[in-house]
Amino acid sequence: IPEGPPSPKWAGLLTASHTSGSRSSGGPAIAVMRSAKAPAQMIAQLLPKEAPPDAVWAASVGSGFARPRPSVAERIRARAEGVTRREISLVTGVSIVLAVAWGSLVAVGGVLAGALQSFMVPKVTKEPPSTFRVGRLSDFPEAGVYETHKSKGVWVVRLREGKLVAISTTCTHLGCIPNWLANDNKFKCPCHGSGFYVSGVNFEGPAPRPLERIKIYTEGEFIMVDKSMKFRQELGQWTNAASYLLV
Ligand code: FES
Repeated sequence: IPEGPPSPKWAGLLTASHTSGSRSSGGPAIAVMRSAKAPAQMIAQLLPKEAPPDAVWAASVGSGFARPRPSVAERIRARAEGVTRREISLVTGVSIVLAVAWGSLVAVGGVLAGALQSFMVPKVTKEPPSTFRVGRLSDFPEAGVYETHKSKGVWVVRLREGKLVAISTTCTHLGCIPNWLANDNKFKCPCHGSGFYVSGVNFEGPAPRPLERIKIYTEGEFIMVDKSMKFRQELGQWTNAASYLLV
């Protein structure tokens, strides 16, 4: 719809059609306007070709089809509402950006806190208990090497001299785990060939001293060992009563 009032040339035609009171006055365009809510295209067709666009608008207003031009107050209000909507959109956009930034900050903070905690707090690895049962006396009926607890670092050995001892499975050379060779009646280390008698005393290879013995004791009917206490032959500790059980 063009701005401003219709030109005087076409306003005269419209005024005449409204005030005459005759259905036929004002020409065919006005007749259509009075009989029906004609759209602007139809009115444009009925008007002469040289009629300017504001004539179409004026005819439409007269017929009640077109919306009257808004007042100045309405235009100011509409403009203010438009500004308010833009401001709301702007505030909403800024809020979304801030929320995303805050979420990212919190996520990064969580990752950093986790990394810092794992760095500051030492990792606690669960050590197997140093004290545990190895069985009852009836489980070691004959002289020999019992390997039932080798995975825990202990051989239980019943010696011919009437003692039950617990021998460490750690080679005294560089810490490998020897094998018990029943046919050869000796412990043999696979790393550098050290050999040990059934008593644990070294006799071949680079091992500098006998295998260590472990504290052994009874608890009720059970035989217990305590790996936290070791006894070394070269230090005269195998005579300690905690290093053997008489059987
Ligand atoms: Fe056993 Fe070297 S570690 S002989």
